[in-house]
Amino acid sequence: MNDPHPPETIARRPIAVPPHPVWPSLSAPEKGALKQRIKALLRQQNAVLVAHYYTDGDLQELAEESGGCVADSLEMARFGSEQEASTLIVCGVRFMGETAKILNPEKRVLMPDLNATCSLDEGCPADEFIRFCDQHPEHTVVVYANTSAQVKARSDWVVTSGIALSIVRHLAQRGEKILWAPDRHLGHYVQSVTGAEMLFWDGSCVVHEEFKSVALERVRRLHPEAAVLVHPESPREVIAQADVVGSTTALINAVTRMENKEFIVATDGGIFHKMRQMAPHKRLIEAPTIGEGATCQSCAHCPWMGMNSLHNLLQLLERGDNEIEIDPAIRERAVLPIQRMLDFAREQGIGMKDKGNA
Ligand code: 13P
Ligand code: SF4
Repeated sequence: MNDPHPPETIARRPIAVPPHPVWPSLSAPEKGALKQRIKALLRQQNAVLVAHYYTDGDLQELAEESGGCVADSLEMARFGSEQEASTLIVCGVRFMGETAKILNPEKRVLMPDLNATCSLDEGCPADEFIRFCDQHPEHTVVVYANTSAQVKARSDWVVTSGIALSIVRHLAQRGEKILWAPDRHLGHYVQSVTGAEMLFWDGSCVVHEEFKSVALERVRRLHPEAAVLVHPESPREVIAQADVVGSTTALINAVTRMENKEFIVATDGGIFHKMRQMAPHKRLIEAPTIGEGATCQSCAHCPWMGMNSLHNLLQLLERGDNEIEIDPAIRERAVLPIQRMLDFAREQGIGMKDKGNA
């Protein structure tokens, strides 16, 4: 497809990817005891767990069993604000904790590991991003949720993968030109669908970038009946082979909604836990990260999401450290584009758990 507006980009920066953390294995009784202890501490501390679909399956189950939630980043933001609990424990990556704190300044927001970052956030330093925006004052600044509070504070809109298409389409219909950051793959996908005029920051997700299109073609030939589900942080050639492109919620919904018995899934492997729960009889196949040029640094598992475990969650509850703090001046500005997104979602009925929005 020809781009109606060829992309203008800025230089990419290298990201150091840590090894995937390894946690001590637990017997079933040990795990059961650990979960009970964590549940008791959550009750005592009036705390609720807000977990992402990429985190460890035990954490996802614990979040649901204890009255918390497991969700995509849009729903995580919304859920935290709807809770009466005085403490939110965000099991995910740092931008998710920061978004929860920005929306809920009166609550304590804790994370099992404050070093759980994201390559998109790391690849978009606020000072350089602000310079880029200042060079293009006629553009509406739309940033992906996977960014720091400072970057959000310089934006007009925050979006997640579950709402990016709808918001950019809305802005393009109003004739607005868009400066998009930081994920160039998601940005190019949004542009290809909406036809919006867009400038791009040159960031990427180290996990999704490793999916390989030629190897995927081979896997599709081996499984011709399988539907291909792709998160839009993946490269263009991988997205081009998808039957469904969408947020983590949209991909989970696709597995339950579609008639196919087999699915090839191009996103972080943590999502398989919820997919198996929702559709135990369906066959789920990991999209390949091997093939020409493969480095398999992450091998479809986000190392930063892997920094959340039952072990450090218990330590967190025992010590009460790892609190997210946001400079009030930054918070005051960052809350506006996030709230704009949530208001838009509510008005349009977008991103509710039962809807398959991209
Ligand atoms: P979702 O909002 O689709 O859950 O995506 C978050 C993310 O970090 C994907 O890599
Ligand atoms: Fe960031 Fe990619 Fe990890 Fe999502 S999977 S948190 S985009 S590094």
